[in-house]
Amino acid sequence: MLVKPSRTLAIDSPPVELEVVSGELERLDADVVALAFAQGDELPETIRNAPGAADAKPDFKKLALVHPARPARVLVAGAGDPADVDLERLRVIAALVAKRAGAVDARSLAWVLPGGPDAPERAAALVEGTILAGYRFDRYRSPGDDPPPPTIERLVIATGEDAREATAAEAAIAVIAADAANRARELQNLPANVLTPSALAERAEEVAASYERIEAEVLDRAAVAALGMGGLIAVSQGSAAEPRLITLRYAGGGGGPRVGLVGKAVTFDSGGISIKPSAGMEEMKMDMSGGAAVIEAFAAIAELGLELDLVAAIPATENMPSGTAMKPGDIITQLSGKTVEVNNTDAEGRLILADALTYCVRELGAERVVDLATLTGAVLVALGSTYAALISNDDEWAEAVRRAAEHSGEIAWRLPLHPEYKELTKGKFADLTNSAAKRKAGTIYAASFLEEFVDEVPWAHLDIAGTAWDTGREYVGKGASGYGTRLLIRLARDLEREASS
Ligand code: BES
Ligand code: MN
Ligand code: ZN
Repeated sequence: MLVKPSRTLAIDSPPVELEVVSGELERLDADVVALAFAQGDELPETIRNAPGAADAKPDFKKLALVHPARPARVLVAGAGDPADVDLERLRVIAALVAKRAGAVDARSLAWVLPGGPDAPERAAALVEGTILAGYRFDRYRSPGDDPPPPTIERLVIATGEDAREATAAEAAIAVIAADAANRARELQNLPANVLTPSALAERAEEVAASYERIEAEVLDRAAVAALGMGGLIAVSQGSAAEPRLITLRYAGGGGGPRVGLVGKAVTFDSGGISIKPSAGMEEMKMDMSGGAAVIEAFAAIAELGLELDLVAAIPATENMPSGTAMKPGDIITQLSGKTVEVNNTDAEGRLILADALTYCVRELGAERVVDLATLTGAVLVALGSTYAALISNDDEWAEAVRRAAEHSGEIAWRLPLHPEYKELTKGKFADLTNSAAKRKAGTIYAASFLEEFVDEVPWAHLDIAGTAWDTGREYVGKGASGYGTRLLIRLARDLEREASS
């Protein structure tokens, strides 16, 4: 008998069991106990003379396994100059510790964290580093093939009694945020034959079904065409897979402005008729990273019950060459009414985002917008995989996004807009061209194009082509990073706080 394949993608993994306690190092019950060791710190009495203690060094990223009588195994993690021990450093250290603990077969890990006012956010950083480092994309490996080291199933944070309650609250939020980022990574990693536009839409519907305050509405090809989304129709027309416009609404109240999130979701970008070189093309399954971050951030925000109103528009499609594909020189009419000459079919992201931005502002009523898109190879040249490019028409909104980026460690660097860049986007035969003859300032060019579709609403664009994949950051390593998921959750928390004060 044929069994129908499951409609859900099952991208959830079992949550880490979290405990926040106050107590002494000697009494902690875990396979490995870890502590950060910065320059000028003294090791606790129990460890100082234990076997292995001589290896403990305060140099950043240096790990030493020490064997006191109790607890049995202590990982001393070098943290460097105390002035440099920020949240990002703690995420990195936590990741290194989690991996080393796995290598010695630990399933449970306890972190010793001094109390005080910074303890909650520091604990959150340790939780994030641990959970992100524990993610792997292994659903297609047969069991028994080179089994991966175990990951941490139970995480204990031991801090001062003064900080315990606040730390427990913040650490629990960090679990939700890091799990959301890992789900976004799973979506990024899923191959394009599995994660089609309709599969991504089903994931969004599954999220909506799980939370009362989220509604999803998904438009198919006919509905997208009837609306007049010329960009999404043109990009999808070369593909056998139908496009989807995925929309989400989260009604959290709170009285602040309604925030719109837009995420590029090209589930495979071959370039279309302007086809990409074959080397590395397989990585273009990740061209839906912006959409994945938006969907999973929505789920986390609903899980946290944050009090703000959010909407999202996620244009999902493949970009393929075929007899029905759009061709260089085609002129399309976007949802806004503006016309565009498609001079390069590989500059497809801006075409679908243009329609989604218009929809998000005009139909979903967004009063502020953030878009996330793996939009240009040029951003890799400019900023590598360290910073995303942040481009905005509004200083205050840009700063809000930049701060959330900084706090989450998903950092972003602002690039300018200027009328001279805008000039480059003017078409020869239509209002705009999607790609200029001369490749100048590719990342800013793309943003200047998008700005034409935001109706002057405060808007911040994040070009995540460099940061979504292969960042090499210790807690995400190679492959999918989930970039933007935790940033958006942080932004939502900041906005909630701002609206209530
Ligand atoms: N999806 C790509 C951008 C990209 C590049 C994402 C590298 C991730 C890693 C985008 O659709 C694209 O192809 N952009 C072109 C635009 C050009 C044709 C104007 C690019 O950057 O080369
Ligand atoms: Mn492309
Ligand atoms: Zn693309």
